[in-house]
Amino acid sequence: MQNKSGQPFSSRRPAAPLAGTLAVPGDKSISHRALMLGALAVGETRVSGLLEGEDVLRTAAAMRALGASVTRDPAGTWRVAGCGVGGLGEPEDVLDMGNSGTAARLLTGVLASHPFVSVLTGDASLRRRPMGRVTGPLAACGARFFCREGGRLPLTVIGAAEPLPLEHRLAVASAQVKSALLLAGLAAPGETRVEEPAPTRDHTENLLRHFGATIRVEPEGRGRVITLVGQPELRAADIVVPGDPSSAAFPLVAALLVPGSRVTVTGVGLNPLRAGLFTTLREMGADLVVTHPRTEGGEPVGDLTATTSQLRGGTIPPERAPSMIDEYPILAVAAACAAGETRLCGLAELRVKESDRLAATAALLSANGVSVRIAGDDLIVQGGRPAGGATVATHMDHRLAMSALVLGLAAAAPVAVDDASFIDTSFPGFVTLMNGLVAGPAPIASLEAS
Ligand code: S3P
Repeated sequence: MQNKSGQPFSSRRPAAPLAGTLAVPGDKSISHRALMLGALAVGETRVSGLLEGEDVLRTAAAMRALGASVTRDPAGTWRVAGCGVGGLGEPEDVLDMGNSGTAARLLTGVLASHPFVSVLTGDASLRRRPMGRVTGPLAACGARFFCREGGRLPLTVIGAAEPLPLEHRLAVASAQVKSALLLAGLAAPGETRVEEPAPTRDHTENLLRHFGATIRVEPEGRGRVITLVGQPELRAADIVVPGDPSSAAFPLVAALLVPGSRVTVTGVGLNPLRAGLFTTLREMGADLVVTHPRTEGGEPVGDLTATTSQLRGGTIPPERAPSMIDEYPILAVAAACAAGETRLCGLAELRVKESDRLAATAALLSANGVSVRIAGDDLIVQGGRPAGGATVATHMDHRLAMSALVLGLAAAAPVAVDDASFIDTSFPGFVTLMNGLVAGPAPIASLEAS
C-alpha cells in the first residue's frame, strides 16, 4: 500500500558505470553520543562532521530541552555547552525522538539518573520498538518507568534522586543497551559494570575516555566486561566524527554491482566493531581496498575504493552480526547478485530495528524476483541477476529504502520504493550523491515529478 504522505522514488540501471570520489555524512552512532556526552560535560565541546540527519537533530533538540546549549556555527561546527554529570534539568515538554532507537534508548539511560520526570515518544516505527530491554536493567539504579503494553513508547521516566551503580549482563549483544547503562552509571557513585556476551560497537566507551572518565574494558569469554567509575567530571573535548561506514556501504555495494564501476568513499570510520560488512564482502570476492589509513578523533579511518566484482555466495556466521547489524539489507542485495547461495545467519535482532528488517528484506528481494527464504533466524538468498520491476514497501525504514534503490541500479528492470523520505534520518543527500557518480541521466529519481 502506498504511504500517502510518502515520497516514491525509483532507480534503474545507469547508462554509464559509477565513477568518482565522495564523502558520506558523519557517523550516526558517534554523532548521538557526541551530543549527549557534550551535554553532560563541563565546558564547550566542539563537534565537526556531525551527521545532520533527522535522527541526530532529534538528539540535539532533546539535549537543548534538557538545558544544554547546542548550536551550529555557519561553518558547520556544532558547539555544545554542557551542564555537567547529573546536571540536566526537567524538560518542559515531551521529548520526541522521531525514528531513532539509538536516541530513545541512550537518552533513557541518561534520564534514569536525573531526578525529574520526562516523557519520551517517537514516530510510528519507534513506537513499535521494544524499550523494555533498557528500562528493565535501568530500574536497578532506582529509576521508575511507565510505558505502553509490550514496553513501547511513549515512556515516562522518573529518574532516581540518588542513583545506584548498575551491574548487569546483557541478554542480547546490544550497544544501545550497554550505552544506556553506562550513561546512567555516570551519575551514580561507585562502579557500574556491564557484561556483554559479544563485543558491540564501543563508541560510548571511547568517547567517555575522551571526555576524561575512567573506564576499563576487559575480555571475558567471547565478550567483554566494561567497568565505569561513576561521578566523573566529564571535561568538554573536541570531536571529529568520521564518515559513517553504514552509509558508505550503499555507494560501495552499488559500485561492486554496476558493471565497470570504481568508487572511492573518503574518511570512512573503520572501527573493527563496525567493519563486518567490509570483511564479508571481501570474503565474497569484492575488490574493496583501504587507502590512507589514519586515526581521527580516536577512531580508525580510511578511504575505501570498490571496483566492480563478481561476488560469490557463502555462509555469513552469526558471530559477525554485531559488527554489521545495520548492513544486512544491503548485504542481502549484494548476495542477490552473487553467484550461488548466501546464508546470513543469526539475524534475530533485525526483527526489532526500524522495521522487522528480516521479513522486510526478504520481501524486498522476493518482490524483485529473487529466491529467498527465512529459516529460523537465518536469511537464505539465491544469487543471480535480479529481475527487479517491483515497488518495495519500506516501512519507515531508511536502510530498506536505500537498499532497494541500490538493487534497482543492478536489476534488469527498475525498482521503486513507496517512500524515500526516511533516508534523511541517516543519509541526507543520498540521492544526489549517488546520481553524482553517473555521467548521463540520473538513475535515481522521484516518481512524484514524473
Ligand atoms: C547502535 C547500535 C545498534 C544499531 C543502531 C545504532 C548504536 O543497535 O542497530 O543503528 O548507536 O549504539 P543495537 O545495539 O541495539 O543492536
